[in-house]
Amino acid sequence: MSEEKFDRRSQYWFGLKDKGGYIHRERLRNQGYAPDVFDGRPVIGIANTWSELNPCNGSLNDVAEAVKRGVWEAGGFPLEFPAMSLSESLQRPTTMLYRNMLAMEVEELIRSHPLDGVVLLGNCDKTPPGLLMGAASVDLPTLMITGGPMLNGRYQGQPVGSGTLVWKYSEQVRSGKISFEEFMAMESCSARSQGSCMTMGTASTMACVTEALGVQLPGAAAIPAVDSRKFTLAHLSGRRIVKMVEEDLKLSKVLNRKAFENAIKILAAIGGSTNAVVHLLAIAGRVGVPLNLDDFDKLGKDVPVIANMMPSGKFLMEEFFDAGGVPTVMKEIANLIHTDHITVTGKTVKENIEGAENWNKEVITPANKPFQAAGAGIVVVRGSLAPDGAIIKVSAASPKLLTHKGKALVFNEIEEYLKVADDPNLPVTPETILVLKNSGPKGYPGFPEVGNLPMPKKMLDQGVTDMVRISDARMSGTAYGTVVLHVSPESTAGGPLAFVENGDEIELDVPNRKLNLLISPEELAKRKAAWVPPKPKAERGWSKMYIEHVQQAHLGADLDFLVGSSGDYVPRHSH
Ligand code: FES
Repeated sequence: MSEEKFDRRSQYWFGLKDKGGYIHRERLRNQGYAPDVFDGRPVIGIANTWSELNPCNGSLNDVAEAVKRGVWEAGGFPLEFPAMSLSESLQRPTTMLYRNMLAMEVEELIRSHPLDGVVLLGNCDKTPPGLLMGAASVDLPTLMITGGPMLNGRYQGQPVGSGTLVWKYSEQVRSGKISFEEFMAMESCSARSQGSCMTMGTASTMACVTEALGVQLPGAAAIPAVDSRKFTLAHLSGRRIVKMVEEDLKLSKVLNRKAFENAIKILAAIGGSTNAVVHLLAIAGRVGVPLNLDDFDKLGKDVPVIANMMPSGKFLMEEFFDAGGVPTVMKEIANLIHTDHITVTGKTVKENIEGAENWNKEVITPANKPFQAAGAGIVVVRGSLAPDGAIIKVSAASPKLLTHKGKALVFNEIEEYLKVADDPNLPVTPETILVLKNSGPKGYPGFPEVGNLPMPKKMLDQGVTDMVRISDARMSGTAYGTVVLHVSPESTAGGPLAFVENGDEIELDVPNRKLNLLISPEELAKRKAAWVPPKPKAERGWSKMYIEHVQQAHLGADLDFLVGSSGDYVPRHSH
């Protein structure tokens, strides 16, 4: 058995002068590679989440080919491999049930193969965070490319933003404002090309946030999926990852506390998705960077929302790209972020954004004339209803409901609510607070995006378009409304949400960060003592393991045994 020592990780496979080395090289040579590809050059894995079941990631095979061009050109050896694809639009009950599975899969794939560096190709909501979590637990030099948004949707000359306008128009169909035929006509106009949702939903948010973390090349996030510049960027990323291996620029050198602080500030500046909160907490947990829910409030509160983007504003990702994208946002708030942070370019943020310009100040507003004032981003509320916190996206809420007291109308499951949402006799008024239980990480299971309960038809008929809604669920990044999410601990885990009853008064006070269930401590204790936890929804397989090990929302909803890193050790060889 060979005991040779190598400088490069892949040489522990390809550099061996024994039977094992023979087998590792020999079988790859059936692909026709020249023998010198095994000579110690950087071997670059390309983790590709392309799938026909995930239309948002449909362009990634072409991206992978462009990356390979760059890797070959820079003297590396690219090897593409498939990783689980998570399709927000098709997968049930929710892709969030599988984000940690993708993270676990990609971690093991990277570690168990002869790789020196990795390029991660993701796009739809959960693929970028899942890939990054897994890669962070290995910690090779790593670069991400998000596939990019679809071209803007248009219907009768008007923009149709994916997700966002589906919520609006589906409520208009229910209230009879538009016909079902019109609704169907919009469907064919809202997905004009390959790519992810072109609003500032979760996919676009995570693309911007990963660029702000410093793990994508500058400008990458906003390039539309079908734009030739996306493939140019992939080509350049291929060249760059080879250099990153040579410089030993590991992921942990980029993903430090400064990176997360920058990401949180950019999240606030773009009015990004609430889902970024759980993903950033989970990624930080993998690299051991201390980060908690309150950091989002503390770091985001002085940052103005400067991206006028749906769902909070009016523009779509094509305009955001044309205006300058993330480098322009970073430049506009340069005095609020760490510009000395080192990114995958090997350069600082300051150097990366030097040439950025703001080409459209209506889309990316100047920081001193912001689209929305500081404090309109994601806010953390706490109190007797959410001892470990809950979040609300202020920019997507109705200002008048941010301080509100109302009586609870409680539903144990989203399905229970949907059955009666159109009932004209539903006991609701505009002041009612809709409360949804059993929709957190353990509860559903999988922490689905059902927190923005559709408005009751009775309210829509009265012209009421928003109400306070509170749950332990998540909400689509494309959705809007006065929606309190991620209540922690969740009801299924015995959080106070479990004990709310119809008619209880609830106080939401966003300016003072409060969320209280206004019943006496004695009454709360009595209900708690009588509470019977719901039966777990799965008795076998992944779902059972997930329910038993998933952490609460305020910790990032990772599996408890996946938090942290095992590093890039070379597993023992079997040949
Ligand atoms: Fe995939 Fe929105 S459904 S990005």
